[in-house]
Amino acid sequence: MIFTGFHPNIYKKDALTSLSFLFLPWKWPYLRKGKNILEVESWLQNYFNAKFVITFDSGRTALQKAIEAVGIKSEDEVLVQAYTCLVVSNAINWAGGKPIYVDVDDNFNMEVEDLKKKITTKSKILIIQHTFGKAANLNKLLQIAKENNLIVIEDCAHSLGTKYNDKLTGTFGDIGMFSFGSDKIISSSRGGALITNNEKLAEKILLLNKKLALSTIRTTLQNLFNFPVFYIGKMMYDIVLGKIFLAIAQKIGLTSKIIYKKEKSCVKLKFYPAKYPNSLAKILLNQLDKLDEMNKHRQEIAHIYDKLLDSNKMQKPSVSDDNIFLRYTILVENPEELIKMAKKHKIILGNWYDSVIAPKDKDINMSKTGYINGSCPNAEKLAKLTVNLPTNKNITYNQAKKIAELINVNL
Ligand SMILES: Cc1ncc(COP(=O)(O)O)c(C=O)c1O
Repeated sequence: MIFTGFHPNIYKKDALTSLSFLFLPWKWPYLRKGKNILEVESWLQNYFNAKFVITFDSGRTALQKAIEAVGIKSEDEVLVQAYTCLVVSNAINWAGGKPIYVDVDDNFNMEVEDLKKKITTKSKILIIQHTFGKAANLNKLLQIAKENNLIVIEDCAHSLGTKYNDKLTGTFGDIGMFSFGSDKIISSSRGGALITNNEKLAEKILLLNKKLALSTIRTTLQNLFNFPVFYIGKMMYDIVLGKIFLAIAQKIGLTSKIIYKKEKSCVKLKFYPAKYPNSLAKILLNQLDKLDEMNKHRQEIAHIYDKLLDSNKMQKPSVSDDNIFLRYTILVENPEELIKMAKKHKIILGNWYDSVIAPKDKDINMSKTGYINGSCPNAEKLAKLTVNLPTNKNITYNQAKKIAELINVNL
């Protein structure tokens, strides 16, 4: 089976690290606290040449705390693109801000002209998302932010390692936010970080971080269990056993979920916001070593798709060096049909983002997200056409060719 999501970044070493934390009693005191957290922070500090790096239990917590650190009065507006994830809108709402959704361009990033239209006297923060690993139009967006005194938070959940004008994304705004969630560039199942060079903001972020509870033991264990469970489950997926194994692990609460039902109704969960657990930081350190290699692989796979996909019933993304292709996203008339067809050939394609505030799910209360229907027409249009192809480390060049050929023949 070929997977797009489903913990695509797990290495054997990660599964072994997680088993060591789960089953070696002398490691239990270090499940949640320990030196690995500082090591991750100092690794990122070097990588970005940033003055301050502060980790959190997730990207959504990091984003919420970034907004809180900026300081929001009620009705202050936070400009954010539509064609984003529900947890982003929750983070804005829970930090006390009012999300104002801006339309996207055909690169799935914020559209400059619509941003200009949506700015009001209450606008305070601009969140710039670099969707699927492609840098947004930073030159123009930053210029507008400057003219309107907006604090800029870059949402780099998809773009760890992406460069724009030879400089890493995350280093352009006042704050850069990163995610180490299961389907991201690198993963420790859950995790996130903020980077900044602004001392005042850093002071506030550090204070907010200090006040956070440790991640619960249950949540930490669930995230650790994800590694061996998905490692084994995916190996046996072809013979159905893996699917059953993964379903049982989820049912009995052994593993964690990416988004919980309550979050979909915009209801807060008890186990976060929280601090980043030391054991997950250890797994992240394994993956940080492979960051460049994994991103290079993603770009090579994207080049194969770009070269081989030739159906005129599809729109391809532009391939450029400022895109590390967390996923390779195409637009087709009937994405669900294509996804169904690929599944018959043992390929699970991705559906990020199949809704302006994703995922598309009956449990999501759109009115609570603050999205007004029709306010971002291009995002609405793209969400109806979106399919993502996998680029992760497990996809071989031959598999990428097979996926491209299958799509060419079946579209
Ligand atoms: C664009 C974007 N920003 C932020 C997040 C939040 O990251 P996390 O899952 O680590 O909370 C996500 C999650 O998918 C995302 O897609």
